[in-house]
Amino acid sequence: MAKITFITSDNETIVAEADSGSVMELAVANSVSGIDGDCGGVCSCATCHVHVDPDHVSKTGEASEIEADMLELADNYNERSRLCCQIEVSDKLDGVVLHVAN
Ligand code: FES
Repeated sequence: MAKITFITSDNETIVAEADSGSVMELAVANSVSGIDGDCGGVCSCATCHVHVDPDHVSKTGEASEIEADMLELADNYNERSRLCCQIEVSDKLDGVVLHVAN
């Protein structure tokens, strides 16, 4: 089980738990503002863009090449950007903090 904290652009904090699925699915299920998941999680919309907290980048890992190509076109892109549909929930993510970039 992983507990994941989302911080929206309005500074709302939402803590959600899951043990499988993608982080985008978890965010949508918990109505995290700014995470829409328009493409259904196939890495082609960037409506699931987050900035990983600087202390937690090692937990989420790096974006794949396809993901990075999509991210470079997104608003608010930075070196901590991820598309959270591409992050699978696992125990490793427990305690991660993600800042919604949209
Ligand atoms: S849901 Fe579309 S890129 Fe993540």
